[in-house]
Amino acid sequence: MELKKVGVLGCGLMGSGIAQVAATAGFDITVLEVEQKYLEKGFAAIEKSLAKFAEKGTLKESLDAVRGRLKGTTNNQDLADCDIVIEAIIENLEAKKKMYASLDGIVKKEAIFASNTSSISITELLTSTKRPDRFVGLHFFNPVPLMKLVEVVRTIATSDEVYESAYEFAKKLGKVPVRTSDKTGFIVNRLLVPYLLDAIRAYEEGVGSIEDIDISMKLGCGYPMGPFTLLDFVGLDTTYYITQVMFDEFKERRFASPPLLKRLVMAGWYGRKTGKGFYDYTDPSNPKANKL
Ligand code: CAA
Repeated sequence: MELKKVGVLGCGLMGSGIAQVAATAGFDITVLEVEQKYLEKGFAAIEKSLAKFAEKGTLKESLDAVRGRLKGTTNNQDLADCDIVIEAIIENLEAKKKMYASLDGIVKKEAIFASNTSSISITELLTSTKRPDRFVGLHFFNPVPLMKLVEVVRTIATSDEVYESAYEFAKKLGKVPVRTSDKTGFIVNRLLVPYLLDAIRAYEEGVGSIEDIDISMKLGCGYPMGPFTLLDFVGLDTTYYITQVMFDEFKERRFASPPLLKRLVMAGWYGRKTGKGFYDYTDPSNPKANKL
């Protein structure tokens, strides 16, 4: 099945990144948002990122050629003739189910529905549509324009043809797809989340300071970011939400949120996006660890 027209639901951090990558790879994109102002914010982020690639000379075409394939809309009907629709809206089960249900009767029957969720069950999402066999997970990583991986998630209901089309589509985006099944957290978060939570526990137990734990994992293991920098980058609210879904699924301590993570979230310290998390980003070029 050839996929040409791509719909992206949500123009936040992940949705805008997915739209940018797909437009750069030559697909026609329509991004759906609830309000024009969110489209404007997302398109501004796309412009900024595209400009960096253009500056480095790694864009194969002119900026205008890529821009020409990107369209924003607030009208669900504009997605009717998409071949694949990738959802990247707020990480909330009910909001996602409502979105899919509202689009199921609008988007053509042969189209594939995909979700970029990092923790919600794809099987639970597909129950809100009449196309269970045409439903997959396509999990991208932040920042989408730079991170090469896409987890392609299969459910027990996904047809072979749809799964292979989604896998090939991820390749055409210039990404490296991996095959995984619909078990909460898939591959990456299954391994990453316990590591991040262990870093918080190590800090709570006085093993080292926030800075020293970060430096240790960067220089001792060659990771691009230490765990606290990565937690602030991903968002503490997002991480906390993922831990809740994973703990609910597996009932294992390794997926349970440490008290400190919960308190940071309750205080509204979500990391970089709120200017405060494990670090303070008053000067974003020189974050300082908070006393926690
Ligand atoms: N678009 C285009 N270019 C970008 C960019 C973007 N969005 N963001 C950064 N860049 C460019 C920078 O301009 C810089 O270019 P130069 O080398 O020309 O200066 C280059 O990329 C490197 O950026 P930085 O110097 O700012 O920093 P860095 O070398 O540390 O790289 C990084 C940044 C790629 C994010 C790297 O730190 C990294 O890989 N971090 C780990 C990210 C990670 O683990 N992500 C997954 C999170 S988990 C997730 O997403 C899933 C989930 O379910 C929660």
